[in-house]
Amino acid sequence: MQLFLDTADVSVLRDLAATGLVDGVTTNPTLIAKSGRPMFEVIAEICDIVEGPVSAEVAATESKAMLAEGRKLAAIATNVVVKVPLTREGLIATREFAIEGIQTNVTLCFSAPQALLAAKAGASYISPFVGRLDDYGAVGMELIAEIRAIYDNYDFDTEILAASIRNGAHVTGAAIAGADCATIPPDVFAALFKHPLTEKGLDQFLADWAKTGQSIL
Ligand code: G3P
Repeated sequence: MQLFLDTADVSVLRDLAATGLVDGVTTNPTLIAKSGRPMFEVIAEICDIVEGPVSAEVAATESKAMLAEGRKLAAIATNVVVKVPLTREGLIATREFAIEGIQTNVTLCFSAPQALLAAKAGASYISPFVGRLDDYGAVGMELIAEIRAIYDNYDFDTEILAASIRNGAHVTGAAIAGADCATIPPDVFAALFKHPLTEKGLDQFLADWAKTGQSIL
């Protein structure tokens, strides 16, 4: 399973990328706004830090304008994936991007039929929003499982990128449901390393080791 970081904060990304466990990055207009920086500068910097896919989202709502924006974003670096909203216009653009060999991440997916259409349009990634579905009163993880079954039934290559991840349980659920990747906010990513029993156990081991007076090196 590939783990992406859902951020446009370059210093936070640098810190977590140093673990070697960040396979890619996703951004969206909200995250770019939060960074307070020009989008092209931020995306270029992220692409220098991470070799894997880096999603950069179009702002247009009409397919021709999405295509123009997406081509410009894809020219930033070879690992840019153009993020397109799951609308009728977005899927028209996705289909054309696929013909042109430009990678796409179809975002704001909230239903299995939407995901089916995205795969048929040739999306490289589909982003079902797990957390926002939970907030809405649905069970977000069920959507991941439904999409997995549908894509496997028809051998679609579109990768399932579990998005709107809010906690470690979402990461576990996405992995069990067979998501190809999950995009994780930095605070949730950092928390994945931790467990209170790990800390407690390590404290005990270190204390007992100190009593032996030994040294390994
Ligand atoms: O980038 C898309 C997605 O991960 C957004 O998550 O937390 O804003 O629902 P959230």
